[in-house]
Amino acid sequence: MRSSETSVKNCRLKFSILFVFVIIIFPHYLRAHIADFDEVWQERAKEAKKAAYKAYRPHPEKVTQSFNHHVHKDSEGSGIGNHNGNSTNRRNLRSHRGPCVATNPIDRCWRCDKNWAKHRKRLAKCALGFGQGTTGGKDGKIYVVTDPSDDDLLNPKPGTLRYGVIQPEPLWIVFARDMIIRLAEELMVSSNKTIDGRGARVHICNGGQITIQFVENVILHGLHIHDIKAGNGGLVRDSVEHYGFRTRSDGDGISVFGSSRVWIDHISMSNCQDGLIDVIMASTAVTISNCHFTHHNEVMLFGASDGYSEDQVMQVTVAFNHFGQGLVQRMPRCRWGFIHVVNNDYTHWLMYAIGGSQHPTIISQGNRFIAPRDINCKEVTKRDYAPESVWKTWNWRSEGDLLMNGAFFVESGNPVNNIRKKGVITAKPGSFVTRLTRFSGALNCVKHKPC
Ligand SMILES: *[C@@H]1O[C@H](CO)[C@@H](O)[C@H](O)[C@H]1NC(C)=O
Ligand SMILES: *[C@@H]1O[C@H](CO)[C@@H](O)[C@H](O)[C@H]1NC(C)=O
Repeated sequence: MRSSETSVKNCRLKFSILFVFVIIIFPHYLRAHIADFDEVWQERAKEAKKAAYKAYRPHPEKVTQSFNHHVHKDSEGSGIGNHNGNSTNRRNLRSHRGPCVATNPIDRCWRCDKNWAKHRKRLAKCALGFGQGTTGGKDGKIYVVTDPSDDDLLNPKPGTLRYGVIQPEPLWIVFARDMIIRLAEELMVSSNKTIDGRGARVHICNGGQITIQFVENVILHGLHIHDIKAGNGGLVRDSVEHYGFRTRSDGDGISVFGSSRVWIDHISMSNCQDGLIDVIMASTAVTISNCHFTHHNEVMLFGASDGYSEDQVMQVTVAFNHFGQGLVQRMPRCRWGFIHVVNNDYTHWLMYAIGGSQHPTIISQGNRFIAPRDINCKEVTKRDYAPESVWKTWNWRSEGDLLMNGAFFVESGNPVNNIRKKGVITAKPGSFVTRLTRFSGALNCVKHKPC
């Protein structure tokens, strides 16, 4: 008894020395939850940085305009044209039955195919915005999750989700049936993977978070992610070749950390211990689309540190999401990067919707913002740690947003490059948003029917 106690103590002592070392040498990797930043992780971090710079778009306004162009093109002749979108009532929106009713260009890219289950990989060409070109596991085999358990973090069983995500080759991961997966610790997703929940109700909940760390090209689609808890840490395998000691995880729903080309689509998320989605540590080329967020305080964090200027590489599109019941703030909260927030429906917030510090560029276009009743919380925006004399130079622009119930967006900075020039494609206005976001969240797709 006593000897094992001593050895635990020794182990802790060694561990804390190691930890101090990690803090001193790699202050910015403090949140990385990597206890031993060994050669494998150092190499991954280096490769990830290269990939991020490669994915970075020097002319982000081309990306925002291309996105807007797709939305306009898609709505021509699809009946979106005359929709009056100012009803605040979204109830019954989804009770639609009948032929395919894809209501935005991302969905129209795949949902109308009744053989979607045979053609799953067609999804890989559907991302728009900064995450466009994210193909996930398109070039790999289909891997079927048949076993919801997560009992062995070092040698996960074939058939489990954890076994699939650590494989070195591209994989398109699907689920044999409805399942509830409680992750024992963080799920370390490797490069070139798609986790595709279509055709099954997959809940990842009550356990560890999904971590996308120092990797590239990942698609998450059609999952329910909720009630994620902070992990205790421990030995976790992150690839077939490597495992390492993880410190306590935050309990985010999804943590995108130093990664590029990530597309998060049709995910339903609520009630996680930390954030719902973090995009941090020089991640870029990310699109978060068609998600439904509810019951959460700090929803999305883009850039975790005012001191980490590498986050200037960060470019994120937030589109067609529904920010719904029980949300409080950070939808998202941004630092450093370039964020296109377009055609989202903000029906609930308690404090504010979009915030930030350290001069991020925020282009808000064609969203609907419905302010809460509280007269003190009508402002969509919130700036932190800077007086007006400083933040007035940050480029935060609102265009075509539908502001309801007294909502107001405080703009600052210059109109973004070219944005008012002739020929510039503005976004579909906020009055179309109820339709564009009508099917947000995980869908119940049935085989042999349009989804
Ligand atoms: C909705 O739009 C109609 C006409 O387009 C207008 O009369 C009405 O006041 C609007 N309602 C709200 C809640 O803004
Ligand atoms: C991902 O796939 C691409 C293309 O097949 C390949 O070039 C790249 O090395 C892969 N990335 C990793 C980390 O395996």
